[in-house]
Amino acid sequence: MLSATNVTKRFGGLTAVDSVDLEIDDAEIVGLIGPNGAGKTTLFNTLTGVHPPNEGTITFNGTDITGSESHQIAQHGITRTFQTPRTFDEETVLENVLIGALFGSGKSLSRSEAADVGRDALDFVDISHGEDADVSELNLMDRKLVELARAIAANPDLLLVDEIGSGLTPTELEKLTNTLQRVRDERGISVFWIEHIMDAIMGATDRIVVLNQGEKIADGTPEEVQNDPAVAEAYLGERDEDGTAAEVAE
Ligand SMILES: Nc1ncnc2c1ncn2[C@@H]1O[C@H](COP(=O)(O)OP(=O)(O)OP(=O)(O)O)[C@@H](O)[C@H]1O
Ligand SMILES: [Mg+2]
Repeated sequence: MLSATNVTKRFGGLTAVDSVDLEIDDAEIVGLIGPNGAGKTTLFNTLTGVHPPNEGTITFNGTDITGSESHQIAQHGITRTFQTPRTFDEETVLENVLIGALFGSGKSLSRSEAADVGRDALDFVDISHGEDADVSELNLMDRKLVELARAIAANPDLLLVDEIGSGLTPTELEKLTNTLQRVRDERGISVFWIEHIMDAIMGATDRIVVLNQGEKIADGTPEEVQNDPAVAEAYLGERDEDGTAAEVAE
């Protein structure tokens, strides 16, 4: 479904994503891990038209989307959530979600049709606040669910989630993990999931891709990746530098 070849993104002299090849199939849950600054979010940004790659080709469902604008890519069927939730805080829960159906789905829906799609997505993610609540009233979990519902309301074939688990309680994280699995199981949507919380991602993914300093250093089953010495070394290097790998290495 997604095929990326030799994707490279540079910021000045820094190569944030370095010649990455990547395939994602139908109805697959793929994890994306790597130390802080490895290029994970930048890779998402190249796939979603935020920062088109300097080199490389991205095809999706047979269409070359390299260099396409974000809204076009959403309409082709790739939607995402952000590392820091991007919600419209002065708007209601439903307003935030129906935008996905109105502008991301590639269909021309009336506002009431979009609202129905939005309600269905809110139901699916099982948000605890009502649809009329202002997003500014929501806790972190529900803000994340609003973003997730908006991405689902756009009816994607591939959903990219960037550290959706961070900052949640263990119970919330478990619920969110189940929800991402249901996205695949019940809706047939592939999920590409950046996460630092290893327990969550190891148990819930079919395959894991590892980036380090922009390069893909591993791509395999969770077990293969866990036992890969190059992956362990990448995380140990991070711990030496800034001490943040303790949770990751557990
Ligand atoms: N817009 C930008 N301009 C300049 N440099 C950037 C930009 N975005 C990212 N970078 C740099 O690219 C590198 C990769 O950053 P990126 O955010 O992709 O890492 P990450 O793997 O998502 O890290 P984290 O786990 O901390 O979220 C970093 O060195 C970062 O400083
Ligand atoms: Mg990131």
